[in-house]
This record gives sequence, structure tokens and C-alpha cells, in this order.
Amino acid sequence: MLDDYLKANLANWDERVGVHVGSDLYDVDGFRSGRSSLTRVEQDELGPLVHEGTSLLHLQCHFGLDTLTWARAGAVVTGADFSGAAIAQARALADEVGLSARATFVQSDVTSLADVLEGRFDVVFTSWGVLIWLQDLEPWADVVAHFLKPGGTFYLAEFHPNVLTLAEDSTPDRLRVGYPYFQHGEPLRFDEPGTYADPGARTRNNVTYEWVHGFAETIDPLLRRGLRLDFLHEFPFTHGLSFPFLEKCEDGLLRVKGHHDDFPLSFSLKMTRET
Ligand SMILES: C[S@@+](CC[C@H](N)C(=O)[O-])C[C@H]1O[C@@H](n2cnc3c(N)ncnc32)[C@H](O)[C@@H]1O
Repeated sequence: MLDDYLKANLANWDERVGVHVGSDLYDVDGFRSGRSSLTRVEQDELGPLVHEGTSLLHLQCHFGLDTLTWARAGAVVTGADFSGAAIAQARALADEVGLSARATFVQSDVTSLADVLEGRFDVVFTSWGVLIWLQDLEPWADVVAHFLKPGGTFYLAEFHPNVLTLAEDSTPDRLRVGYPYFQHGEPLRFDEPGTYADPGARTRNNVTYEWVHGFAETIDPLLRRGLRLDFLHEFPFTHGLSFPFLEKCEDGLLRVKGHHDDFPLSFSLKMTRET
């Protein structure tokens, strides 16, 4: 049964799928004509491990753009997301671009995915704005470990937990803490119309419940399930966030104004399931 937090988040996401599909940020037309939806970070760090026939599970795949980009690179992909609207769009897009033979999409809350999906994968992938929707990373780590083949790769690229603690009114020279880094299980409640892809979009389901997860909280459950940490990278740039203290640079990435190399805004990690 869905708890109230999950219900609110699901209603919010279901409503935002249509807005995102039509947004400049997601640029679905660009994807249709061959553009990769992946950032340089995951292209450079995970790309070399994805070959023709690599089996890849994408957790919280939204409407499947990144999932299908990995399919274009040769992977046989499965995308999972709790939003029925997102999964319907992902399937339609896979059909439209001729990738449905190598792409399966499954609707499920991430923590109960093992109830509805079978198999083990060479790669489990998840990225950008996924962890804040999860109350507890212990069951999430169960899912990651469960679906990885021995020797398989887990890869995560995500907004840095530090930036998620900053107050919206922070300025480049006065970055102010607005939210806790250690949340002790209680969610932050937001009530915001629109979306990061279209702040002016008229939306009705605007309440969300979110959790900041620090590095230890993210990595330790995976280590305890037998994954080995291969690398953890922190970057002073990001994308897709709309804080006023960020500016878009020539390479299209966002950095803190006047402090381009000084603060962590995103991170990535790669882990291997040893046995
Ligand atoms: C920011 S998006 C994912 C980002 C993705 N990289 C993108 O931009 O296309 C977050 C996704 O998590 C999904 N989600 C949130 N909570 C979830 C849950 N408990 N189980 C499964 N999916 C969830 C949402 O439906 C949404 O598609």
C-alpha cells in the first residue's frame, strides 16, 4: 500500500511527465534525431562499460530518455519507475524510435521492484534527482544488490548532498544552510507549482516529500551488501538545478557564480558487486 508521502510524490510526478516531454530541457525532438540525453559525466565514466548486448537496469528512469540512449549505445535495457504516466511515455517513445525490441519498461516503486521484475543485470544505473525521493536507502540498496550479476557494475550520478542543504536565497558569497544534511527519517515538505523543466507550468499536484541523503547514508548500505567502491567523484558543476547562485557556463554546465571551481555540486560513483 502506498503511504501518504509516496502518494503525494506519485501524483506530482504523474502530472509532470507531460510537461517534461514537451520541455526544452528534455529536448525530446533532439533525442528523436539522435542526440544523447546523457551528460558528459556518465558518458565518460559508464559509457566504456556499455557494449552491444550489455544488460542494463535503469532505476527511476522517468520517461526513458536516458534508458533509450543506453539502448542506442547497444545495451538491452529495462527501465523502472513508479509513475504510470512516465512508463507509458517511455514505451511510446521506444516504439517511435524503433528501440522497443531492446527496451522494456516496468511500473513499480523502486523498493518493491523485485516483486515484479526477474533477472540479473550487468549494469544497474540511476541518475540525477533520484535519491531525494527515497525515504530509506536500506531497501533501495537491497534492490541494487539483488539485480546485479556477480561482477556487475552499479553506477550513480547525482546532485551533491551538500547543494541540497543550501537555502534558496543563498548568494554566491553567502551560501547559507537552509536544510539539514542529517534528516533522521522525517521528510522535507515542499509545495511548489511548476517543475525544474518549466517553472511556469500550471500544475495542481504540487506537494512533495523529500529526503537529503549524505554520502555515508548512500554508500554504506551498498558496501554492507557486498559491493566494492571503485570510485567516488565530486564535481564543481551540475545541470538542471535552478538556484539563483548558479550560472550557466560556456560548456552549458552550471557553476557557482564567481566560484567556478570551489564548491561541490554533483557527484558520481561506481561500485562492483564482487560475488
Ligand atoms: C528527477 S527524475 C529522474 C531523473 C532522470 N535522470 C531524468 O531526468 O529523466 C526522478 C524520477 O524518480 C521517480 N520516482 C520517484 N520516487 C520513486 C519511487 N519511490 N519509486 C520509483 N520511482 C520513483 C519519478 O517518477 C521520476 O521519474
